[in-house]
Amino acid sequence: MMEEVNEFDFENRILSNEYDANQDSEVENNLRPKVLDDYIGQEQIKANLRVYIESAKLRSEALDHVLLYGPPGLGKTTLSGIIANEMGVNIRTTSGPAIEKPGDLASILTNLQDGDVLFIDEIHRLTRAVEEILYPAMEDYAIDIIIGKGPSARSIRLPIPKFTLIGATTRAGQLTTPLRDRFGVLFRLELYTTDELATIVKRSASILEIDITDDGAKAIASRSRGTPRIANRLLKRVRDFAIIKGDGVITPDIAKYALESLEIDELGLDNIDRRMLEAIIKYYSGGPVGLETLAATIGEEAITIEDVYEPYLMQIGFLARTPRGRCATRLAYEHLGIPFFTNGGSKQAPGQSSMQFD
Ligand SMILES: Nc1ncnc2c1ncn2[C@@H]1O[C@H](COP(=O)(O)OP(=O)(O)OP(=O)(O)O)[C@@H](O)[C@H]1O
Ligand SMILES: [Mg+2]
Repeated sequence: MMEEVNEFDFENRILSNEYDANQDSEVENNLRPKVLDDYIGQEQIKANLRVYIESAKLRSEALDHVLLYGPPGLGKTTLSGIIANEMGVNIRTTSGPAIEKPGDLASILTNLQDGDVLFIDEIHRLTRAVEEILYPAMEDYAIDIIIGKGPSARSIRLPIPKFTLIGATTRAGQLTTPLRDRFGVLFRLELYTTDELATIVKRSASILEIDITDDGAKAIASRSRGTPRIANRLLKRVRDFAIIKGDGVITPDIAKYALESLEIDELGLDNIDRRMLEAIIKYYSGGPVGLETLAATIGEEAITIEDVYEPYLMQIGFLARTPRGRCATRLAYEHLGIPFFTNGGSKQAPGQSSMQFD
């Protein structure tokens, strides 16, 4: 009934955090909250945003430039749409890799209207030449263009509409300092609590007309790795099991049955998480193992491990990042049912031992 999924097939991994434009975009759009009140969790960010938005509106000015960063699927794209909506302005959406030449960005900027939001997803992937267009645009609402060639070439400054740039990235660390410094507002999105995710699951269920009990929503939420996108995806898969194996209603029993069939455990870990932890434990005695080495061992890109898999494993305390590499913690051993002994047979936390710099 279910397609066979290769263990190392990160692309089709049901828990994958990554945005799959083809598969989920339409449903995802329907599930996206449109106003701040419907955006669940991230309370501090919402409270601050309300102040900044009200203030900008009272001053009849564009909102200051906003940088949203954090792991995939936490609601960066959603929030940018909400900001534009709450400001009552248009949003123009593009992404770092989509803007190839400085001229492409210049033409987007000159075509905006006063107050508009320009959303640049994956902003860390802008080329340097394109990025340089952004500096005066963000700071002075102007772009510098070169007219003519050779000795007669000169640069002229063109005013552009007063816009708001919203940048989103999973890797704020990769942004250049001049770019990062030009954002007035920086928000780091956090993983969601189980209660928040349960609320999101119930909201999505009502939009998709799926019957679900409170405890059923909780059962899904607690296996969603702190990530709304995963919660919504699991909801749809569990719904299928509820229809075929139950009476259509998602109860905790159905949710448990479905998630077990998907080989997702009670903490939301799947085969690949377990393989990764097992690799650290079995091949590298619990670590430390360098990120690149670990990536090669499990056949995945270091960037994907860092952005997609590690944040949750670190949050639940299964993985430690140390200067010398990644370590599986005692909790990870316990969860996998592997006796916790280090090399010499002494009981010692591998994560801790490597924290000492010798
Ligand atoms: N706070 C929230 N409340 C309700 N639903 C949310 C919230 N945050 C995200 N979602 C849901 O999760 C899904 C993914 O969110 P979104 O696409 O905004 O994430 P993202 O941070 O932009 O991810 P990526 O880094 O992959 O682009 C959306 O379909 C949205 O409905
Ligand atoms: Mg996004």
